[in-house]
Amino acid sequence: MELDKIDKEEYNKQLKYFNDYYGASFREGQGTEAILELINKYACNGTLIDFGSGSNIYFWLIAFRHIEEVLCVDISKEAFFINEQIRKKELYPKSCEYALKKYNKEFDEVLKTEVNYLIYDVLYSSINSTIKYNNVSQFGLLGLCKSEKEYISNLEKLYNLLKKGGILLGANWCFSTSYSKKMGFNNNYLSEKIVRDFGEKQNCKILYVKKVPIVNDPNYDSALIYAIKHE
Ligand SMILES: C[S@@+](CC[C@H](N)C(=O)[O-])C[C@H]1O[C@@H](n2cnc3c(N)ncnc32)[C@H](O)[C@@H]1O
Repeated sequence: MELDKIDKEEYNKQLKYFNDYYGASFREGQGTEAILELINKYACNGTLIDFGSGSNIYFWLIAFRHIEEVLCVDISKEAFFINEQIRKKELYPKSCEYALKKYNKEFDEVLKTEVNYLIYDVLYSSINSTIKYNNVSQFGLLGLCKSEKEYISNLEKLYNLLKKGGILLGANWCFSTSYSKKMGFNNNYLSEKIVRDFGEKQNCKILYVKKVPIVNDPNYDSALIYAIKHE
């Protein structure tokens, strides 16, 4: 990724996200502890494809036990640029210290994981991949869907990339009223029920689903987190 091809405005937006969230010290009570535990408990070893990956894959990788290779998919090449700055140690995600301590890991080891990038509009394009993965994840992407119908059809798209026995891990932040106004839509449809209904329709196993409250964040009231097993 070359610097001259980077859109400055998008880079600054992604950098703000990094500085406000994972670049800052770890804040408890934002649902993040529960997501780390979800990954650590339910993810399987092998490959991973992470959708809406942004600049945060190394943070979540700390909680996985052994990932051979990750494919990060995002619409923003600027987010990937930041991720590369983290790998090259030009940027330091302070929040990682919490997870490193929790899982007794060294950041240098985590940074050695093979990470590849794919710039792609996930929400509004089809995905026809013959390659299947041991783990599929999305942390913060599908909650950007404007309706329940859109959410479910995208979840189905991601689920279809799993190998038999593979695990889909998801986390979506439910917008506060003021953030919904700012965004121009709400994601009030996020509920444990939509995940359970999905499990019934697909005949797959819901290993975990919970809406976790979030404290003291003006943008988010709760986070819906889940692990689904492909049977
Ligand atoms: C809330 S951030 C989450 C980033 C990261 N997964 C994390 O855990 O911090 C949402 C990400 O989704 C990406 N995104 C938004 N719309 C997208 C789309 N249509 N296709 C792919 N990625 C998209 C954004 O660029 C951003 O990096």
